[in-house]
Amino acid sequence: MTASNRRSNRVNDLDLSNWQQYDDLLTDSLWLLDARDSSGAHQAGYHGNFIPQIPNQLLRRFTKAGDVVLDPFAGSGTTAIEANRLGRRYIGVELSPTVAVQAEQHIRQDRMVLFDNGAAPGPNLDASPFDEQPIIVGDSSSDAVAREVQKRLDGMGKSGVQFLIMHPPYHNIINFSSDPADLSNCPDVEHFLERFLEVYRSLSEFLEPGRHLAVVIGDIYQNSEWVPLQSLLTARMLESKKLRLKSIIVKNMVNNRAKRNQEHLWRYRALANGFYIFKHEYIVLFQKLGRRRS
Ligand SMILES: C[S@@+](CC[C@H](N)C(=O)[O-])C[C@H]1O[C@@H](n2cnc3c(N)ncnc32)[C@H](O)[C@@H]1O
Repeated sequence: MTASNRRSNRVNDLDLSNWQQYDDLLTDSLWLLDARDSSGAHQAGYHGNFIPQIPNQLLRRFTKAGDVVLDPFAGSGTTAIEANRLGRRYIGVELSPTVAVQAEQHIRQDRMVLFDNGAAPGPNLDASPFDEQPIIVGDSSSDAVAREVQKRLDGMGKSGVQFLIMHPPYHNIINFSSDPADLSNCPDVEHFLERFLEVYRSLSEFLEPGRHLAVVIGDIYQNSEWVPLQSLLTARMLESKKLRLKSIIVKNMVNNRAKRNQEHLWRYRALANGFYIFKHEYIVLFQKLGRRRS
């Protein structure tokens, strides 16, 4: 195939003239994923981390090699590892210094495993001193973090980021720390939504128009009521008039061992109290509106 026959898309590296080769790329809005990818340094150990297949699928569809991915709730570094493997640049933000250090260890470990297996480094590996410590420690809604993101982009010679992935706490279902800036410590749902929007408003400024933003979020159950966090957040984000809603993906949740042990109890509660047990979460995909800079 000659270069001129190759049909491509502005936001990824897929060869659309040969689209049948990508049979592992999901295109349906229902994602039924079985086992967690546990290759390299990926681990299920961090309570609340998502499975690596989520960032892998999204980065392959919505970024190109060398693009910058911004991850304001970096956690254990799942997205960073996938970004590295795919040759994308990465900037993460994590409130907890301990969690950020552990994430950077995972990222280094994963690179070592890749090199041991003879994999070629992606274009971003060792390209900038920031790639060695890609996680900014701080509150993602703060001006200090926004300034640091800008500094890192300047250091990479980039004017913006090409993908924003947001995986916040699902309000208070997991308590990540005692820090008042932690979104899992918001006293109620309204505060949680407002704090999330602060992060979105501050960091979406770095996203290039025409590029994509994904929010990974689940609904919660509080005071005998289903609270549709995903719908509430999606509606509030669209009020900004800066985004186009592209997809709402429903992804299955596979219970870990601790939850499996409690399954009978939950089934009894569901039958007794008239509700259904959560087995899914959402990936909400938006595109930023506005003119692209040429
Ligand atoms: C659901 S976890 C993200 C997990 C991540 N996707 C992974 O796979 O490891 C949410 C993370 O957001 C962090 N966090 C909470 N509030 C924050 C804030 N204001 N700024 C930055 N990080 C915050 C928590 O410490 C937690 O690690």
